Amino acid sequence: MEKVLTTHFANERYRRMDTYRQYGGYEALKKAFAMTPEAIIDEVKKANLRGRGGAGFPAGVKWGFLPKDLSRPRVLVINADEGEPGTFKDRALLSVVPDLVFEGMTIGAWAIGATRGVVYLRGEYVYLREGLEDCLARRRAAGLLGNDILGTPGFDFDIDIRLGSGAYVCGEETALLESLEGRRGEPRNRFPYPVVRGLDQAPTIVNNVETFAWVPAILARGAAWFVGIGTPGSTGPKLLSISGDVARPGVYEFPFGVTIRELLEASGGEDAHAVVAGGACGVCVPAADFTRAISYEEVSTGGAIIVLGPDRDLLDVAENFLEFFVDESCGQCTPCRLGNPVLLEGVRSLKRGECTAERLGELQHLGRTMQDASKCGLGQTSPNFFLSLVDRFGPEILDRVPV
Ligand SMILES: Cc1cc2nc3c(=O)[nH]c(=O)nc-3n(C[C@H](O)[C@H](O)[C@H](O)COP(=O)(O)O)c2cc1C
Ligand code: SF4
Repeated sequence: MEKVLTTHFANERYRRMDTYRQYGGYEALKKAFAMTPEAIIDEVKKANLRGRGGAGFPAGVKWGFLPKDLSRPRVLVINADEGEPGTFKDRALLSVVPDLVFEGMTIGAWAIGATRGVVYLRGEYVYLREGLEDCLARRRAAGLLGNDILGTPGFDFDIDIRLGSGAYVCGEETALLESLEGRRGEPRNRFPYPVVRGLDQAPTIVNNVETFAWVPAILARGAAWFVGIGTPGSTGPKLLSISGDVARPGVYEFPFGVTIRELLEASGGEDAHAVVAGGACGVCVPAADFTRAISYEEVSTGGAIIVLGPDRDLLDVAENFLEFFVDESCGQCTPCRLGNPVLLEGVRSLKRGECTAERLGELQHLGRTMQDASKCGLGQTSPNFFLSLVDRFGPEILDRVPV
């Protein structure tokens, strides 16, 4: 399988400037200014660049949803909250190739007509701030940010870094906007979507760090290059943070369509018992499914791959994830606020061998209700791991159910 670039950040095989240039740094921005904003959005649509933050919504389509009225200032926000347990690919991009990310944002700003860009940086990544500010200062000095960028009259755009404070839910885009506006980070009601009314009431695009990082390459190499990598529904390469019971944890780049087994071989996790795809809100994949591919069509993940070795008790993992969700639920809606503690107690009773088959059925029903009725993605996905465990690891779970 062609690997576009070896990016195993953990072992220093990654060369900063080579990578930046390889992915179109500087050239892409110049190329973008020779194109109309509509042509750029079209190219991103043709590439079918799907958001790398988890949900996989096509970036070009989102950009195209902005209201046509250009009199209202537009804002571009980059979601660098990266709170999902097991995800650290955005940290790698921001540490190693911040230029690439900022170049993607600048091209995005030209395409959507934004003058203001904001990086919402995970609070725990505060140590990255200085390096990011230096990178922004260098770009300003080189005329790549600020007024009349690269001598293009009237194209003014600059980027501001704002820190989160450690709440997982603030990665949800509307909670993130609340937090940026200085309020408690709680998800907003939709409608309207942020593209219509976002930060400080302005039409706002929120995209993940990795989503923006692919934009220069798409412009420099063309949408056809990007579409030629991956699968029909999941184009391009994907950064994956592989952690857990593996010999070589790190950030890896693979084309979408890579199988779980290939990931395990690359990272030294061949004896895995199960893999969690998508982090705490993801699903537990049994070894029988390691031939399945990482893609939106098959096994989907925003970037987290957590490998569970043969000695792991899967119910311990479920308990750990549910404790996390009980802590992180913002408490705004009932299915999530009350459902997560009930699921957690259910898992604990399973571990004690006290959960009856009838109770297990009720817990599954509760999990599915939370998926349907919770207000935001946190409560809609927090039951995923538990439900997948009951579905796919029946014998392991059921032998603890008293008959
Ligand atoms: C609880 C929760 C946490 C989230 N955390 C993140 C995050 O840390 N980074 C991210 O890019 N998206 C996160 N998302 C998804 C965002 O709401 C949004 O879909 C994403 O930033 C859009 O960017 P993309 O289309 O480029 O993926 C989270 C969603 C939920 C429900
Ligand atoms: S699903 Fe959870 S995190 Fe989301 S709004 Fe409801 S209580 Fe808050």
